[in-house]
Amino acid sequence: MSMTFSGQVALVTGAAAGIGRATALAFAAEGLKVVVADLDVAGAEGTVELIRAAGGDAVFVRCNVTQEADVENLMAQAVSTYGRVDYAFNNAGIEIEKGKLADGTQDEFDAIMGVNVKGVWLCMKHQLPLMLAQGGGAIVNTASVAGLGAAPKMSIYAASKHAVIGLTKSAAIEYAKKKIRVNAVCPAVIDTDMFRRAYEADPKKAEFAAAMHPVGRIGKVEEIASAVLYLCSDGAAFTTGHALAVDGGATAI
Ligand SMILES: NC(=O)c1ccc[n+]([C@@H]2O[C@H](COP(=O)([O-])OP(=O)(O)OC[C@H]3O[C@@H](n4cnc5c(N)ncnc54)[C@H](O)[C@@H]3O)[C@@H](O)[C@H]2O)c1
Repeated sequence: MSMTFSGQVALVTGAAAGIGRATALAFAAEGLKVVVADLDVAGAEGTVELIRAAGGDAVFVRCNVTQEADVENLMAQAVSTYGRVDYAFNNAGIEIEKGKLADGTQDEFDAIMGVNVKGVWLCMKHQLPLMLAQGGGAIVNTASVAGLGAAPKMSIYAASKHAVIGLTKSAAIEYAKKKIRVNAVCPAVIDTDMFRRAYEADPKKAEFAAAMHPVGRIGKVEEIASAVLYLCSDGAAFTTGHALAVDGGATAI
């Protein structure tokens, strides 16, 4: 895959693993410098090593996206290292529920909303002024198919991902005339640690997960990375405020 990018620097949160790591590697493979942000120091350093081993340029900044001081520091480190941030992939997210809505706890609610919603909001709050000052940029936020419809036994998660789409669309309209595009990617079930934690213990659940997708399988991290790169690329210059399902047809039925 080769795409055209007018910018040179990409920032990825949740880049220590899964979709974030794959997307950081994909940006680097296109020749972009990458800011790798995560709470997980060992995992994030692993991502940086993979990028450097492939001849790319990356820097790790430890960041808990729920803490404004961390997010401010992340953007400051990105600018002091590479001078700018052209593309931001706000991808850090958690999924910890196991029960129906009435079984949820306040702690689960606060934790999920904290990372998935406040984290994305804080990142955009500190990315948009920078992109405005630079004269443009593109942001992609990780929502989910659970941001487009019901997610039984994951109601808080579903609410958090609907909120990500609300933030995405609102910011897209606010900055539409400022050369800043804001989109969301909505994966269905993707083969990551998050998926394995939820499904691997129970093979029936894994079969069920594959069958949820008309293509007959779950997705690969690279299949989300390529969608994120497309949304950042010059080829998506007319696309903003969009929530792109990458779901093996799951939301088409
Ligand atoms: N895997 C799926 O099936 C799937 C489907 C739809 C959407 N998503 C979304 O994709 C995103 C990435 O998920 P994944 O499957 O790659 O999960 P993952 O658990 O493999 O990776 C998530 C990363 O986010 C980091 N993270 C968590 N909390 C953080 C915080 N407060 N600050 C900074 N980093 C933090 C983790 O350390 C981890 O490296 C999430 O937003 C998730 O909700 C995943």
